[in-house]
Amino acid sequence: MASRGNFSSKLGFILAAAGSAVGLGNIWKFPFEAADGGGAAFVLIYLVFAFILCFPVMVTEIAIGRKTQKNPVGAYKALGFKQWQFLGILGICSGVLILSFYNIVAGWAIGYFLEMIQGNFEIGNNFSTYTAQIWKVGLYGALFMAITAFTVSKGISGGIERAAKFLMPSLLLMIIGLTFYAMSLPNASAGIAYYLVPEFSEVTFEVVYNALGQAFFSLSLGMGALITYGSYVSKNDNIINSAAWITVTDVGIAFLAGLMMFPFVSYLTNGTMENFTGGPGLIFATLPGVFRSLGETLGIIVGSTFFLLLSFAALTSTVSLLEVPVTYVVDELKISRKRTVWIVAGLIFLLGVPSLLSNGYSGFFTNFVTYFGAISPTSFMTLIEHIGNDTFLPLGGFLITIFAAYVWKKNNLIEELVQGNEQFRNSWVRKHIDFTVSYLCPLMLGFIFILTFLDRFFGISVF
Ligand code: TRP
Repeated sequence: MASRGNFSSKLGFILAAAGSAVGLGNIWKFPFEAADGGGAAFVLIYLVFAFILCFPVMVTEIAIGRKTQKNPVGAYKALGFKQWQFLGILGICSGVLILSFYNIVAGWAIGYFLEMIQGNFEIGNNFSTYTAQIWKVGLYGALFMAITAFTVSKGISGGIERAAKFLMPSLLLMIIGLTFYAMSLPNASAGIAYYLVPEFSEVTFEVVYNALGQAFFSLSLGMGALITYGSYVSKNDNIINSAAWITVTDVGIAFLAGLMMFPFVSYLTNGTMENFTGGPGLIFATLPGVFRSLGETLGIIVGSTFFLLLSFAALTSTVSLLEVPVTYVVDELKISRKRTVWIVAGLIFLLGVPSLLSNGYSGFFTNFVTYFGAISPTSFMTLIEHIGNDTFLPLGGFLITIFAAYVWKKNNLIEELVQGNEQFRNSWVRKHIDFTVSYLCPLMLGFIFILTFLDRFFGISVF
């Protein structure tokens, strides 16, 4: 049998997995949720969730992958639980759905990079017209998917790992540079205060549950992306230690993104933070105005660096999303990687076309469904996001922990984690993982799944 490939080093794996984790979610969702959810209080809650709840799920996924050296579907079968293959299929579906719209936003990022280079800061005021220019954004989306596919087609060490070794350090340099620059602008401190001054009164139940959902998505959990990456990890590597690095990098970059974003917005609004909105609007509509106000030359430098940073962050994430179905097809159908990659990427791009049309171009897809009890309609793209991100991922995470703790059994998980890390056997981390994987994770993730499902599709808010 042809070799599946491997990460060539522990560092290579950490960079690739951290690249999967660091993505659009860190740069546009985290800062906004933090500011809205009580500043430093939110950051604290987020940290607790990332390390207490998400870290054990991450470790579990990597361990299942490394133990079986298989894709998420094959992994359950290899462990002897054929009936659990559905969980792998659910994961692959999540990945395919998420990639289908994530790639479109990534295409906007490249498009904006090209506009910034030309000094077209006006684009911010025309964001909604921009996304409706279907041929243009469609082309950028196709370009982004092609770059993703090209990277994945080169294999694990020659493609994904190599790209991550270049993209992640560059990303880190860019974000540190932009953060220092943003913090040196007038009114920066008002922005930082807006971001971080703790407001414990804003910490509602909903904020807590958003923090968990965000941490989970940001760490790329719940769909077997890390089962897949884990299947290429060496038996001598210390999984606990790698997972700690991945978590720290992801959380650290999300935190930095806030330190960069808020001084920028504060500078534009003279410290008032007026009309401040989160989501794509913040990045694609507001930030170009900030760059314009820096003057032509500086604006071009800072603006194009920012959108290059965003594109790099997105690329290491789209690569991991594409790798999941690709590994599945390569493992199970024994088709060559090169051929598989281009076919799968092409199909996912086609699946993304309705999402592409649902940002203003087609009325049908833009106002696709009106949920039960909702006032305004939801676009096709948002619907896919609600299914893929908000429903499938927590459900997947819930089932993965149930599987590991009660079906595969904890001792087997612990044995895999001891490989390459003898001290783990008697450590407090082991006790922590023992407890959280059996009780805390299934409980919290099951809870999140039910609450989000009711909220998104039935407008039933428990809060
Ligand atoms: N974590 C990435 C982000 O924050 C998105 C992502 C990439 C992802 N791969 C994933 C999310 C797998 C869940 C599962 O943008």
